[in-house]
Amino acid sequence: MADNIQADNSLSSGQKTTIYRKDYQPPILTVHHTDLVVQIFDHHAINTVSLDYSLTEAKPVFLHGQSLDLVEVRVDGKVLAAEHYHLSAEGLTIEGLPLNGVLSVKATCNPYTNTALEGLYLSGDMLCTQCEPEGFRRICFFPDRPDVMSCFDVRIEADKKYPNLLSNGNLIETGDLDGGRHYACWQDPHPKPSYLFALVAGDLERVEDSFTTQTGRKVALHIYVEKGNAHLTGHAMESLKRSMAWDEKAYGLSYDLDLFQIVAVSHFNMGAMENKGLNIFNSKFVLADENTATDDDLNRVEAIIAHEYFHNWSGNRVTCRDWFQLTLKEGLTVFREQQFVADMHDAGVKRVEDVSLLKAIQFPEDSSPTAHPIRPDSYQEINNFYTPTVYEKGAEVIRMMHTVLGDEGYRKGIDLYFQRHDGKAVTCDDFQASMADANDVDLSLFARWYEQKGTPHLEVTRRIEDKGLRLKLAQYLPGTQADTKQSAKPQPLPIPLRLSFLDKNGVKVPFTTSQNNVSETEQVIRLDTVSTEVDIQPAHAKDAMRFSYATPSLLRGFSAPVKMVDDLSIEERLHLASYDDDLFNRWDAIHRLLLKALKHRLETAQNGQGPDGALEEALTNAFARLLEDSQSRDDFKACVMTLPSQAVIEGAVKPADPVAIYWARYGLQGQLAKGLGSLLGERLGVLSKSADTPATRTLLNRILDWSLAGDLPDSADIALHQSQSQNMTLSSGAVQALNKTNLPERSAALAGFEQRWADAPLVLEKWFAAEASAPHAGVIAHLEELMQHPQFDVKNPNKLRSVLGVFAAGNPVQFHKEDGSGYFYMADKLAWLDKQNPQIA
Ligand code: ARG
Ligand code: ZN
Repeated sequence: MADNIQADNSLSSGQKTTIYRKDYQPPILTVHHTDLVVQIFDHHAINTVSLDYSLTEAKPVFLHGQSLDLVEVRVDGKVLAAEHYHLSAEGLTIEGLPLNGVLSVKATCNPYTNTALEGLYLSGDMLCTQCEPEGFRRICFFPDRPDVMSCFDVRIEADKKYPNLLSNGNLIETGDLDGGRHYACWQDPHPKPSYLFALVAGDLERVEDSFTTQTGRKVALHIYVEKGNAHLTGHAMESLKRSMAWDEKAYGLSYDLDLFQIVAVSHFNMGAMENKGLNIFNSKFVLADENTATDDDLNRVEAIIAHEYFHNWSGNRVTCRDWFQLTLKEGLTVFREQQFVADMHDAGVKRVEDVSLLKAIQFPEDSSPTAHPIRPDSYQEINNFYTPTVYEKGAEVIRMMHTVLGDEGYRKGIDLYFQRHDGKAVTCDDFQASMADANDVDLSLFARWYEQKGTPHLEVTRRIEDKGLRLKLAQYLPGTQADTKQSAKPQPLPIPLRLSFLDKNGVKVPFTTSQNNVSETEQVIRLDTVSTEVDIQPAHAKDAMRFSYATPSLLRGFSAPVKMVDDLSIEERLHLASYDDDLFNRWDAIHRLLLKALKHRLETAQNGQGPDGALEEALTNAFARLLEDSQSRDDFKACVMTLPSQAVIEGAVKPADPVAIYWARYGLQGQLAKGLGSLLGERLGVLSKSADTPATRTLLNRILDWSLAGDLPDSADIALHQSQSQNMTLSSGAVQALNKTNLPERSAALAGFEQRWADAPLVLEKWFAAEASAPHAGVIAHLEELMQHPQFDVKNPNKLRSVLGVFAAGNPVQFHKEDGSGYFYMADKLAWLDKQNPQIA
């Protein structure tokens, strides 16, 4: 047995080499077929991989391998002498291989001591895998790069204490072996890169259903969970069937195997993974019903099930040539997921949620020292690039192409993309080329969105002209903080701006522009240069008056991921807030005013000048109108009543004092609640008795949160009572609202929750998170207590996230405490965690 190659687990320490996108070289090794035998034993696994290969050049061949013990190398069945290969910490180099042959490498790994949760590892009582992006090399020596695709035959052997032996594709054969062992053979007819390999060995419960594709294929659907959890899979299964039907209807894409399996595992670094035909999920995103999960949780389950399912085409059938292209599959799949959710629920509310997320997590990243383009030029550790930029901004870039091409043009481009590249590993350029070629348009400027980091600023100003309006559009891309690397001057980006004009009754006026040769009430104009001017006129002379008083509704639906500054007055924003039929802009109008009020509070906190009373009163009136508006959906009202997030405010004021911001935000919410007074009380009373849909529950929770912030009569009693509800949305909404206060009802509600869910580890994560995010003093000592709790498990990423993650990202008051205690505490924990599980660190 060759020497043990020790892994450097850390993502941050040690000498990492920088890999550049421009250095890409196609592999010299083609794998025609992969055979893998995994033999699982009590203390290790023996993995033998056989590659039917050919070489394009007679050169040394490199196979990745990490934390493996090499047993032997064979070429065409004959053991290869040690002088023909050499091992390093990164893998195995083999010299003098024939141009064609079968290369077999046998190695062992230890899944039982694998705390990084990459490769093959133990989760609870089951063994499972996570291979994206570079985990397969921890299972066997292999060309572990996404542009090496092959069909896999997999044989798993294990003790019968693991009755379920699963892998990708179709089950071909099972049988008994000596010594209480058995085996299963799987065959995946679709060529795939190694990162999509998966294996599970466990004693699991299986829930079955089926789906018949529009091509007539009957697909068996299996969801595997730990024993005792089968009753919590109904929502996931229904979500899967909806996803399969939607992808056929919206994209014409059908599933391509007779079996689709999902396994829920408790110890998982991320949300879920799209392994071909065998998705592996964080159990949190499978196990959910109304008693144990909130409506938001249920929606997240649906969205993640859909996301992973959609990867079957956008990611698996057509995959990435190299990891620089990650957004090719992730940006597109997030966009597809967003479209799906918009179709299943309310498109306007969904757009508000997506943009809120983008602004809360991607904008800050894009103006920080870790800013990067959606397709980076270099990396040291690819695991660090599964970011909001690659995912969320990546989806915005696809959305802009959709906006520019329209529904039909977008679909033509997508069809061509799948037609051209099915079964291949390709690049973002290939995607853009398909979109452009299918529509015979030039999209070359869009490449800049892939190359440049930073959030562009867009300035829109109006000038009244004789016959209409002249809009001046200007953009600039600010340098990012601590930015020493961005050498080339940023190029102007193509920015689609969707706009309308609302007359004084809120009715849209048809108009023409100097860019588009149409007269419509909503149009998309484009800014492709640093600045431009667009003339806008009413389409009909009779509308001259109406148009001259019209309010522009700009960047409708958030048509580009930019920071827009416009010249609208407070009155104009209030007008949009009341009338705009673009729900995103209606929401945005109020949110811009809320941000203005918050900035005023923060700026004047020092000089004792106090809040902007007139603005806050106008806002109170706007919220009163919103609450009384019988046309608007309750979930939309709840969105509007969610104040700009901590991160958004931090991005809008300089310097950003997180603690002051937290209290300003809570203070403004309380003030608005007081202003609404009895109206809020009356709504609280009505909704408490009728909160029987997700939309009403979310509004009820918002109103309760406001009432507590405003210290309104009876609100604490109502909240304590609601915290005991059988419905998790209501129960957890009340706990979270009380958690921001220092009232005795808070302790009572949290204690009650803990007691009730003491034996439900997933549900108890909500309690851990609430305790870790409590803004009132003493929380750091308390974190230590939490991590001693019988249901806490230092090896479980969900638990770590719900205590340490929530503390650092969701408790600004304590984490950013002036004495630095929050920072010291986290630094300490991260240094320790980086050695166990660097991804989570
Ligand atoms: N491909 C998975 C998804 O988006 C996520 C994989 C994340 N991997 C990682 N190393 N963080 O669905
Ligand atoms: Zn994904």
